[in-house]
Amino acid sequence: MELLHLVATPRTNGSNTLRISKVFIEGLRKKYPELKITTLDLFQTEIPAMAGDKIETKYLIMQGGNLKENFTATWTEIESFIGGFMRADMYLISAPMWNFTIPFVLKYYIDTIVQPSYLFKYLEDGTPVGLCDGKMVVIKTSGSDYSNPPLSYLDFHEPYLRGIFGFCGITDIHFISAYNMDITPEIREQSITSAIHDQVPGILAQL
Ligand SMILES: Cc1cc2nc3c(=O)[nH]c(=O)nc-3n(C[C@H](O)[C@H](O)[C@H](O)COP(=O)(O)O)c2cc1C
Repeated sequence: MELLHLVATPRTNGSNTLRISKVFIEGLRKKYPELKITTLDLFQTEIPAMAGDKIETKYLIMQGGNLKENFTATWTEIESFIGGFMRADMYLISAPMWNFTIPFVLKYYIDTIVQPSYLFKYLEDGTPVGLCDGKMVVIKTSGSDYSNPPLSYLDFHEPYLRGIFGFCGITDIHFISAYNMDITPEIREQSITSAIHDQVPGILAQL
């Protein structure tokens, strides 16, 4: 069994999100000693851009073109990222909130891997069908608290990830959320401790 861990924070030391992720991974290792963990640090990885001949190929695939004749060498780069994603049985995303949504590198990665006929397809009547499965856990931290009004409407992070991965067939998604990271050090510690003790065990039990 393989877990793909997508790291979407550049703060290797002192990352709030990675502190919680570390405890979660330790718990997962205890539960599944054979688990293979592949880490993809998105801030340290050169991700191919959906531009140039790659965007041409994407449209060709979407419009039912002949893949073999028009397949460009650069598309194999995209396929290797898709393959890395599809191979996993379980997913962990460590992503702080940046400007009410996910950090740009995670969006960039999603733009690279979410391709028709790989992660989803359309039926003849246009209905989209997800081609992925597996369980996903998202560890999310933010400076403020979005769990209730008046700020809850500004949380585009959780709905977006549920939306895009649900569209691709991954509907079993759990969020571990630690709010108020940037108010005072005491409040941050309280919130991280609460995520570790009150949320992590419950999610691990469901995996
Ligand atoms: C570029 C940037 C944008 C941010 N935008 C938000 C935001 O919209 N809302 C919020 O509550 N916190 C925001 N924050 C604060 C982070 O979400 C918070 O500090 C988080 O815990 C950082 O996670 P990390 O330590 O794992 O990198 C932002 C931080 C950065 C660096």
